[in-house]
Amino acid sequence: MNVLGLVCSYRKMGNTEIAVKEALMGAQEAGAEVAMIRLTDYRIEPCRGCMSCVFKKTECPVQDEAHRLYRILVDYDALILGTPTYILGPTGLLKTLLDRGMGFMYGYGRGLEGRPALSMATAGIPGWEPYALPINALFLRALGYTIVDQFMVYGQGPGEVVYHEEAIMRARKGGKTVVEQLSKGKAEYLGEETPYSCPYCHNTLLLFLDEERVKCPNCGIVGKLRTNGQGHWVEWEKTPNRWIEKEVIWHFEHQVLPSGPRFMKRRREIREKTVHYRQFSPPCTEKS
Ligand SMILES: Cc1cc2nc3c(=O)[nH]c(=O)nc-3n(C[C@H](O)[C@H](O)[C@H](O)COP(=O)(O)O)c2cc1C
Repeated sequence: MNVLGLVCSYRKMGNTEIAVKEALMGAQEAGAEVAMIRLTDYRIEPCRGCMSCVFKKTECPVQDEAHRLYRILVDYDALILGTPTYILGPTGLLKTLLDRGMGFMYGYGRGLEGRPALSMATAGIPGWEPYALPINALFLRALGYTIVDQFMVYGQGPGEVVYHEEAIMRARKGGKTVVEQLSKGKAEYLGEETPYSCPYCHNTLLLFLDEERVKCPNCGIVGKLRTNGQGHWVEWEKTPNRWIEKEVIWHFEHQVLPSGPRFMKRRREIREKTVHYRQFSPPCTEKS
């Protein structure tokens, strides 16, 4: 059993690194071989939108280290993810990596299905991190991982996280849990649930579709807000979530791939209809 820690912060010995190391120590205590990498040690460029990973099912033509990083993820049985919160959510580094994972999700990859993952996000100020865990969850679920626990770890200056003792203990325990789940062979979520939590990504960041229906933006499932004398809860429809392998394949084959021939058919017409946009190119004059 081997467990990888992925630190998505530039700050060496920052709060995220400490939280991830604590979890890795837990995993090691539970008998796993552990390793840690910093996302910032890899050159990951943004996706250029060429779609060749999906349409041609070939490795992304961008010559950087994203493929290498995805291969490393596959080499490890489980993942401990740590991201710092930057402006209410995880750093853009994580999303940039995920955008580069589309070929991995559909074209030439996958292979992380059902592997356990622990998700942690660090932040300086409680309440200033609403997208941190949900976007971490999106990253993990989109790649096929099963989240076993997820929580915030608070600390502002590098290292201050050690004062959030409860979270540090939870990180240690989370590392052990990941290994226990690996030996069981089937990962499941052991973190907190609320009456509103999505049953798949376990977040409560929901979209309101109308007065009574809500949707998990990550997993795409819909539920009804229910209430009785005891309180409120969401009754989720028993529909598959969009990140199970079958649904991902369906999405690409029925929603994305048909856009190729459709576009080719319309290409000339689009050129004609967009002439005035091509001709309109207002330059930016820097004022200072
Ligand atoms: C650009 C930037 C934006 C930040 N935005 C937030 C924020 O929105 N909410 C918050 O609670 N903390 C915010 N922080 C604080 C970091 O989340 C916090 O210091 C975290 O522990 C950093 O982790 P690290 O030491 O691993 O880099 C921000 C820090 C930086 C540098």
